[in-house]
Amino acid sequence: MGHDTMEKPNLSFDRNGAPGKGTPYAQYIKLDELHSLQQPLSEVPAERSFIVTTQVMELLFGQLRHEWTLAQQALRADDLPAALAALRRGTHVQDVLVESWDLLATMTPQEFNGFRPVFGEASGFQSSAFLHLEFLLGNKNAALLKMYQDSPKTLADLTAVLAAPGLYDDALALLGRHGLAVPDTVSERRYQADDAVAAAWRRVYTESEHAGLLPLAEALLDVAERVTRWRQRHLASVKRAMGGKSGSGGSSGLVWLRRAAEQDVFPELWTVRDEL
Ligand code: HEM
Repeated sequence: MGHDTMEKPNLSFDRNGAPGKGTPYAQYIKLDELHSLQQPLSEVPAERSFIVTTQVMELLFGQLRHEWTLAQQALRADDLPAALAALRRGTHVQDVLVESWDLLATMTPQEFNGFRPVFGEASGFQSSAFLHLEFLLGNKNAALLKMYQDSPKTLADLTAVLAAPGLYDDALALLGRHGLAVPDTVSERRYQADDAVAAAWRRVYTESEHAGLLPLAEALLDVAERVTRWRQRHLASVKRAMGGKSGSGGSSGLVWLRRAAEQDVFPELWTVRDEL
């Protein structure tokens, strides 16, 4: 008789003293809560996938914030390997974010129009998690905090990131500690390209003495490129679902979004390439 050593998974479990709350998996993942959060307001089938897509992206924004914050802490502690590891995990999160647009790939204007009235003035532009990432990237705009006047926790959170160094600021500070001349770039306004920063990156790319910082430059460029890719995929989805109509958030839609998509993230890492 053959001896089968393959154990099957258990079908009954220790319920952690919480009978009636489902499997250990359901308890850990908060499954019932999670699956109760999709609440379409129309009868249009596409609305559910629009909600799921948005929720998936929100969760990933939160995950990205976590990784970038860890990267900043590591940079401040001069722990380059830990910073690179966090950026690398973030890069994979960004890849999933970019691919998430596929979930909306088939949505026609008629489907979108069918449920658009139910969400009124709601727009991803109002996403505080996205704005948090924008501030970490140096795309700071204090005026936008007005949207969160009646959300004290969100407001406090964003006010703090606005005043704090962004990811790029922390990277530049590290360059400074490696003997490269960089100005203090921390500001509560949108980051502006700077010649001294460009010169510092040029030295990283060209002087063997600074080659140890090259992986940081390339990791930041990976981040920057994916931010733009996400914006481009958003743009394509908007174009497909609503053409050039104005946005639910009150902007001119495509025209406004296109301008944001054209702004390079971490600009000197791109311009330095003119000279390499
Ligand atoms: C086909 C579906 C979508 C359309 C037609 C659309 C449309 C728009 C438009 C027109 C804007 C400009 C602001 C406004 O006037 O509303 C905008 C901004 C934005 N949307 Fe969407 N959107 C779609 C899906 C999504 C999804 C799934 C997310 C995920 C959270 C999202 C996140 C954002 C964000 C973060 C902004 C601000 C962008 C920035 O500041 O650069 N959008 N969207």
